[in-house]
Amino acid sequence: MEVSKRLQAVTESQTLVMTKMARELAATGVSVINLSIGEPDFGTPQFINDAAKQAIDDGWSHYPPVPGYPELRKAISEKFKTQNNLDYAPEQIIVSGGAKHSITNVIFSVINEGDEVIIPAPFWVSYPEMVKLAGGVPVFLNSSIDTDYCFDIDDLKTAITPNTKMMLFSSPCNPSGTVYSEPFLRQIAEVLDKHEDILVISDEIYEHIQYGDKHTSIGSLGLLKDRVVTVNGLSKGFAMTGWRIGYIGAPLWLAKAVDKLQGQFTSGTNSIAQRAAITAISGSLDETYKMRDVFHKRRQLVYDGLSEIEGIKPNLPRGAFYVFPDISSFFGKSYNGKTINNSTDLCLYLLEDAHVSLVGGDSFGNPECVRISYAASEADLKKALENIKTSLNKLQ
Ligand SMILES: Cc1ncc(COP(=O)(O)O)c(C=O)c1O
Repeated sequence: MEVSKRLQAVTESQTLVMTKMARELAATGVSVINLSIGEPDFGTPQFINDAAKQAIDDGWSHYPPVPGYPELRKAISEKFKTQNNLDYAPEQIIVSGGAKHSITNVIFSVINEGDEVIIPAPFWVSYPEMVKLAGGVPVFLNSSIDTDYCFDIDDLKTAITPNTKMMLFSSPCNPSGTVYSEPFLRQIAEVLDKHEDILVISDEIYEHIQYGDKHTSIGSLGLLKDRVVTVNGLSKGFAMTGWRIGYIGAPLWLAKAVDKLQGQFTSGTNSIAQRAAITAISGSLDETYKMRDVFHKRRQLVYDGLSEIEGIKPNLPRGAFYVFPDISSFFGKSYNGKTINNSTDLCLYLLEDAHVSLVGGDSFGNPECVRISYAASEADLKKALENIKTSLNKLQ
């Protein structure tokens, strides 16, 4: 007996692998600073917790409607309109078990064997794996730190073939923190507008964690009519990773398809989390902005710290809570008989020597870099930067 060929072709999530290794090392008594994690280190705001407790007491214990409670779909539809200038009627909203599930649903609803999906690199680790699992073929657009990880629009034009079915990206981006500007999004939309069979998935899960820019949704630009799926959720902006609430606004035909798929797979999303989500989505963003401001301060701390380490070329992210510095100058260097050949080698070295856990950029489609999450306390970040500096200085 063996697992399916499709699953065999899927790579395990490197962020989870590094987190697991960090936990294992910590279990041996070593004090490890885990900067490989992709979740806010804050608790969920109290008013949302209270709404969940109330939902339990009010007896929301039965199967929810498969696409989500009507009040929640209405609240999301209004959020899209007022915050993002997007027109999705409540019937076009589907609530799922996290944005990860939302994206998987869409991919599985439209991708046939051999369909190509354009994904700008660096990308969130799960995108290509989801596409492969659905029988699709990921097609990458490369970029580097020198253009703040924005790809060349001409590369997008040449990547499009008769088999292209979809383009999928996140802005703000995990892992780079890059925010696509409105002019850049418009350039992307103008190219894709000419290809009416291509669907766009715009992953906006880090919408509320941005430093200075006003968030722009590609679906609000007046192009790509009925071809943009906007993905969002509560994990990052509301510190609700464990609640597993994600959602999409989609063309009606696709929302119906996802409803059908979800009806066979999950019977809808956890009822209590959904009831609390109504409060979160319709409530004030004050708590969200407080968390964003803390992330903003930490971003500067990490950027300044990295800038002082010889050999590291840091980027200044405009959103999310990751820095994605270029560390390729260490390739070929060694310490204690161990040579660093790639970004994963560097992460393993730093885990062992600096007791800091990071994730290699190779798993995000950019092998020159490492991802550092600053969803950690200032004290931990300072200590981690010190340790990283000491360890990197040992490499010859
Ligand atoms: C870009 C991006 N999209 C989606 C997700 C998944 O979010 P959720 O917790 O809602 O499934 C993540 C989580 O790390 C992410 O970084």
